Amino acid sequence: MRPTLLILGGTTEATALAARLAGTGLKATLSLAGRVETPKAQPIPMRVGGFGGVPGLIAYLRAEGVTHVIDATHPFAAQMSRNAVEACTALGLPLVALTRPAWMAGLLDTWRHVPDIAAAVAALSGPPRRVFLAVGRMHLEAFAAQPQHRYLLRLVDAPKGPLPLPQADVVVSRGPFTEAGDRALMEGHGTELVVSKNAGGTGARAKIDAARALGLPVLMIDRPVLPARRELAHPDEVLDWLAHSGADLGV
Ligand SMILES: NC(=O)c1ccc[n+]([C@@H]2O[C@H](COP(=O)([O-])OP(=O)(O)OC[C@H]3O[C@@H](n4cnc5c(N)ncnc54)[C@H](OP(=O)(O)O)[C@@H]3O)[C@@H](O)[C@H]2O)c1
Repeated sequence: MRPTLLILGGTTEATALAARLAGTGLKATLSLAGRVETPKAQPIPMRVGGFGGVPGLIAYLRAEGVTHVIDATHPFAAQMSRNAVEACTALGLPLVALTRPAWMAGLLDTWRHVPDIAAAVAALSGPPRRVFLAVGRMHLEAFAAQPQHRYLLRLVDAPKGPLPLPQADVVVSRGPFTEAGDRALMEGHGTELVVSKNAGGTGARAKIDAARALGLPVLMIDRPVLPARRELAHPDEVLDWLAHSGADLGV
C-alpha cells in the first residue's frame, strides 16, 4: 500500500520532516493552522487553516484518503493534538507524534515552574518589572491583567492593531535566534524576568541560555498534558515507523 501522509505542522520539526520526505516520492501534505502571515516555503504540498474540529478532520482524512498522520505540532498546540488522536482513533488510522524533549533546568538556571498561562499571569502580580514575555501573540490578552510591567515582545508578524498591554516594546523577527543576540536584546531592554513556554528543542532555546548567562530568572510554563500516543524524535524514525506499519515506501 502506497501511503498518503498528513503532517500537522507549524514547527521546525515538521519542516525537517517535510524536507526529509521531499524527493522520496511519498505523497505527503503539510498542514498549517495559518497563524503567521507568510508561512515558510515548504518542499511538499501545503494546506492552511483549521479543519473544523474533530468532525472536520475526520472528513478531511476520508476525502484525501490519508493513511498515516504525523502530529508534528508544537507541544503547546494541545487542541490540535487531542483532535488528531480522536479522529485517528475513530478512523483506525495510525498516528505518531514527532516531538522534542522538554527543557530541563541546569544548576545555573533560576526557574519558577507554573502549570499554564493563567498561573503565569497570576505569578506576575507585584511591583513593575521589565519582562521579556516570550509566549507568542495568541496569549498576550491574558497578560493585560498585569499591566504594571513593561513587556518586551518578539512577534513573527507586526501587530495589526493596538496591543492589549499598555507598555510593550515589540521586536518583529522569526529567528533563528542566538544566545549572544538574545543576551544583547535583553540587556538593551533591561530585562529582569523572562516568561517562556517549555517549548523544548533548539529553535526557541536562545532566550533560555541568554537568561542563564545574564543570571535572570525564568517563569517557565510547563507543557500541557496530552493523550497517550506513540512519540518519535527524528524524521528518520518516522520513515522506519511507516515501513513497519506496512506502507510501501517504494525503496
Ligand atoms: N502554541 C504554541 O505555543 C505554538 C508555538 C509555535 C508554533 N505553533 C504552531 O501554531 C499552530 C497553532 O497552534 P495553537 O497552539 O493555536 O494550536 P491549538 O490551540 O492546538 O489549535 C487550535 C485550532 O487551530 C487549528 N490548528 C492547529 N494546528 C493546526 C495545523 N497544524 N493544521 C491545521 N489546523 C491547525 C485547529 O483548528 P480546527 O479545530 O478547526 O481543526 C485547532 O483545533 C500549530 O500548527 C502549532 O504547531 C504553536
